[in-house]
Amino acid sequence: FDAKNVEKFRPAYHHTPLYGWMNDPNGMFYKDGVWHLYYQFNPYASVWGNMTWGHSSSTDLIHWKAEAPAIYGDGLGTIFSGSSVVDKDNTSGFGSGAIVAIYTSAGMTQQQSMAYSTDNGMTFTKYSGNPIIMSDQECRDDKVIWNEQTNKWNLVMVAALEHQVLFYSSDDLKHWTKEGAFGHGYGAQDGVWECPDLMQLPVRGTGEKKWVLIVNINPGGPNGGSATQYFVGDFDGKQFVCDSKPECTKWMDYGKDHYAAVSWSNSPNGRHTVMAWMSNWQYANAVPTKQFRSANSLPRDIELFKNVDGEYYISTTPSPELVALRGKEVKYGQFSVHKKIISKKLPLNADGLYEILADINNSNITNIMLSNADGDRVLMTYNSAKHTFGMDRRRSGLVDFSSDFLAATVAPTSASKHQTLRMFIDRSSIEIFDGDGRFVMTNLVFPRSPFTTISFQSNGRSKINNLKVWNIKY
Ligand code: FRU
Repeated sequence: FDAKNVEKFRPAYHHTPLYGWMNDPNGMFYKDGVWHLYYQFNPYASVWGNMTWGHSSSTDLIHWKAEAPAIYGDGLGTIFSGSSVVDKDNTSGFGSGAIVAIYTSAGMTQQQSMAYSTDNGMTFTKYSGNPIIMSDQECRDDKVIWNEQTNKWNLVMVAALEHQVLFYSSDDLKHWTKEGAFGHGYGAQDGVWECPDLMQLPVRGTGEKKWVLIVNINPGGPNGGSATQYFVGDFDGKQFVCDSKPECTKWMDYGKDHYAAVSWSNSPNGRHTVMAWMSNWQYANAVPTKQFRSANSLPRDIELFKNVDGEYYISTTPSPELVALRGKEVKYGQFSVHKKIISKKLPLNADGLYEILADINNSNITNIMLSNADGDRVLMTYNSAKHTFGMDRRRSGLVDFSSDFLAATVAPTSASKHQTLRMFIDRSSIEIFDGDGRFVMTNLVFPRSPFTTISFQSNGRSKINNLKVWNIKY
């Protein structure tokens, strides 16, 4: 991005708006080698308001080019979240290969509207028949998918205050028939339900496929505030039937800063690539940046796996494109860790931007600490007796802009004592993935200076089989 528009905490390799405010990712689609990302954008200030669809594009999912804002508010309201599809067969009549965006018009009420693009998403024309779905509740955040089984379009949106997902079907993207609803009593029920997504995912290592319904919730996340829950089950084009008991809640990410996660439409090779807004409504408007506010998570690819408890869970791995970010590699080899703290200097020319790979054989508890010269630190604890992985950012630098920011987050891990952790560190975030896609933890941090050291300590005898650090090149 524009080198003149760099401030201390602007991420180097995460998508951010050039200026102004950003929340949810919207309307993402892939076409002709280009990944398009739209987002909830305030062009006039770096706090929420004046919702517009901002636009960026990328050919590699890493480097983003700022495009002109794509959809501005009109007489029906400002432009809230929604999705886009590539209408290959011209079902809508807007032209073969037209991009059709369906979003929420937020005025006196929330209605669903449509706009189309015949220049691959650079400019959109509003449909003259808007709104296309009217409602008298707070209904919003349309996600449209092509259902190969029924040969129809499906649309999901939320009745936000009712904790319900509503399903619709259509042949032409303009006329929608109301089908079933899912929600009442299932999963986390605090706050509002927002930004749903529906997709059929392969189950790793089997020929099986299951339907996944993503429902973002705010507040009510596992660590307070905003988070992404999901349900696994079956969908016949009309009704979603959840496999699990109503009280079973599944989380896509265990950090505090992963919200509004939705997937790209028309991804290549049947991929299911998702991206989240990397913040939390508890303090999103107050984080210590100025010209812009908020970044997206790194792109991730998801599939399902079947766990020993018989349940299906989402497996999340960093999108393969991210390997291209690896610059100089520093190998620290193998070492044992006991009570005494072992510290390793991170490569100094790294400007605080690293990918760290730590392959750990845990005896009981292994503590991992990132620290800098200012005394800021992030403490991670991998507990293989309790099967948990935690991250404590309470002393990570600037933290006092919100009491909700003072947090230690915890994720469940697999029963194995062996973990291969992949950590992505940018100027104001840490994302940690375990080796087999069972947990992800995304947390913002605002260290006063870049982290320079990684330390290890164990209450037993842990072994670091392998520690590697790459400088990020972007
Ligand atoms: C989620 C959300 C959506 C809404 C948008 C408005 O973060 O509240 O439900 O469409 O943000 O910006």
